[in-house]
Amino acid sequence: MGKKFTVSSFLKSKKEGHKISMLTAYDYSTAKLLDEAGVDSILVGDSVGMVVLGYENTLKVTVDDMVHHIKAVSRGVNRAMVIGDMPFLSYHVSIEETIKNAGRLIQEGSAHAVKLEGGRDIIDRVKALVKAQIPVVGHLGLTPQSVNVFGGFKVQGKSEESAKKIIEDALLLQEAGVFAIVLECVPEKLSKIISERLHIPTIGIGAGKYCDGQVLVTQDMVGMYSDFTPKFVKKYANIGEDMKSSVKSYIKEINEGSFPEEKHGFTIDEAIINKLD
Ligand code: KIV
Repeated sequence: MGKKFTVSSFLKSKKEGHKISMLTAYDYSTAKLLDEAGVDSILVGDSVGMVVLGYENTLKVTVDDMVHHIKAVSRGVNRAMVIGDMPFLSYHVSIEETIKNAGRLIQEGSAHAVKLEGGRDIIDRVKALVKAQIPVVGHLGLTPQSVNVFGGFKVQGKSEESAKKIIEDALLLQEAGVFAIVLECVPEKLSKIISERLHIPTIGIGAGKYCDGQVLVTQDMVGMYSDFTPKFVKKYANIGEDMKSSVKSYIKEINEGSFPEEKHGFTIDEAIINKLD
């Protein structure tokens, strides 16, 4: 097992130019595989709502859902930093509720940090979490919990006004104490400017090569989730097709009688069998 990846490792990586790798996971076995492969950080994203629970967006995901999945992921991880997403409305009502909900992801789920979507509107809650010793990751650009405000999953920061707003929000979040910011679906040249202005790392998803790290939804990256594949996804495997063809072989062998074979079964003394007849 390598040295644990921590908040300090995020900051050190930025200083030393080590690009941070992050992937999502929602269950024990996937988290264990990602950790063994050496990923720096695992995000238990509220994308669990779409990828695992089959919702059309992330809005129905609850704090209970997140705690359940973060617990499973944490049990599979030795080295990577586990970040738990704060779901829709879990940090919008009050500072007190925000701390309670984030506290559940840390205390019950064993997450090392939490992630919140938004900029200037959530600064008071970010500050309160940091004061409560809960490490926070920001999330700007296309923030999927605002899908109904944006009118769909669209690239953000293309106009001068919106680009300036994202830059200002990134600076405000940094000042409030976040230790990293996810930039989702923003133009590459904008994320370059932001990454250069910040002393904390940026983690890009659809934000180009100048970010200090990258994150993808694992099921997209290994070809397991086919409902919708954004342009920024690179498929490194085709696990979905592999799974389907192995299931077809399994069904065929059951029907033909070629599975199970003798080696897959257990034996019993013939004398005992004779007594059972
Ligand atoms: O929920 C999620 O998986 C995320 C990533 C897309 C950054 O927030």
